[in-house]
Order: sequence, then structure tokens, then C-alpha cells
Amino acid sequence: MNEEEILETTAEYVKQKLQNVDAGHDWWHIQRVWKYTKAILKEERANSFTCQLAAILHDIADHKFHAGDENIGAETAADFLTEMQVPPPIIEEVKHIIQHISFTKSFDKQSYFSPELAIVQDADRLDAIGAIGIARAFTYGGFRNQEIHNPEIFFKESSNKEAYKQARNSTLHHFYDKLLKVKDKMNTKTGKRLAENRHEFLKIYLNQFFEEWEGLV
Ligand code: ADP
Ligand code: NI
Repeated sequence: MNEEEILETTAEYVKQKLQNVDAGHDWWHIQRVWKYTKAILKEERANSFTCQLAAILHDIADHKFHAGDENIGAETAADFLTEMQVPPPIIEEVKHIIQHISFTKSFDKQSYFSPELAIVQDADRLDAIGAIGIARAFTYGGFRNQEIHNPEIFFKESSNKEAYKQARNSTLHHFYDKLLKVKDKMNTKTGKRLAENRHEFLKIYLNQFFEEWEGLV
């Protein structure tokens, strides 16, 4: 199989595998991250095949839904790529990307860097902000039965990874815990540029939200 065919087969595999997951992490999320990865690749230098494989496979098995097992995604992806006879160095890199892409990891000391990780992580982060990021946050909030907003609970950033993972706050709180911080965590120049418009939209949304909440508009 050539690279194009491997990418298509991988996409089909992931589409099948993600059939019953929540809407925030479904096939459409993967398709968007793949699209953003290709957009960033037009302006940044990295191995395109590796980035695209990692983008397609990055959420194949989310630790949040597998009893906290943080390696299951990378292992599942590696098994699949081995079957597809992808060269081992590319499989290794895809594994590294999947192991380090998560926002949760940004609480740990950065232990791995590659231009490929930088790009796919940026693509994944773009999907957490802007109009789509907002839709995903409320979808996830609904899934966890979180409140939309609770004015009696003061916004407080999670200071570490465990606090972030355990946070059972309102979804509006999550904007302050994560969404508004994404812009400054972008890795690539292109990613930073693409994040700006989405970040501005988050701020506009929050202004309107609080004005409505107070009955001002
Ligand atoms: P990762 O999968 O990179 O570890 P997260 O778990 O933070 O990242 O987020 C996955 C998606 O779910 C994102 O769109 C994120 O904003 C949303 N999300 C995560 N935690 C919450 C939460 N507590 N409330 C609302 N949305 C959340
Ligand atoms: Ni993702």
C-alpha cells in the first residue's frame, strides 16, 4: 500500500472504532484534527505522513474511558500500524505523539518534543477552542452531568494534573481551567495564528453569556 492508501485505511479503521464514543471525541473530531493538521503542514516543516497518521489515531482509545490507562491509545495504534507494515521508526514517532498530545500532559514537565508532535498537538488544541470548542465543552459537560454555570463557585484554576482530571465544576469553569489558556500553549507559529480568532470568539461568547445571565441583554 502507498502512503495515501494507508491513510485512507487507517481513517476507515478509526471511523469504525469510534462509532459509540461521545460526540466530543467522535470521528468528526478526528476528521477536523486531520484537516487542521494538513492546514498547519502547509506552513510548517515536518514529516507529513507521520503527522497525519498521528492525527487520525490520536484519540483511538482515550484513557478517560479506559480506567485511566494512559498507554492504551499508543499501543492500540502501534498494533494497527504494525499490521499495515508501516516502517517501525514512523510507528515509534506516532506512539510518542499519542502519549504526549493530551492537554492533561501540559501539567507535567515537557518530556518529549518533535516537530510532528508540535503540529498534531496544535491541531487537537484548535478543536478545543472557538465555536466548536464551546460545543464540545458543553457536550462533555452534559455527558458528565455538570452544571452549565454556578455563580456561587468561584473560578479557581486546577493547580495540577490530578485536580484538573477530578474537577467536577461547571462547564463555564472549564473555560477558565482550560479553554482560555489554550492560545498561549500553541506550539507552532501557524497554530498560534489560527488560535487567535477562536480565542477572541471565546471571549465574545463569555461576555454575552454573563450579560444574559445577569439579565442585561
Ligand atoms: P485531552 O483529551 O487532550 O486530555 P481534555 O480531556 O481536557 O483533553 O478535553 C477533551 C475535550 O473535552 C475538550 O474539548 C475539552 O474542552 C472537553 N472537556 C474536558 N474536560 C471538561 C470539563 N470538565 N468540562 C467540559 N468540557 C471538558
Ligand atoms: Ni483529540
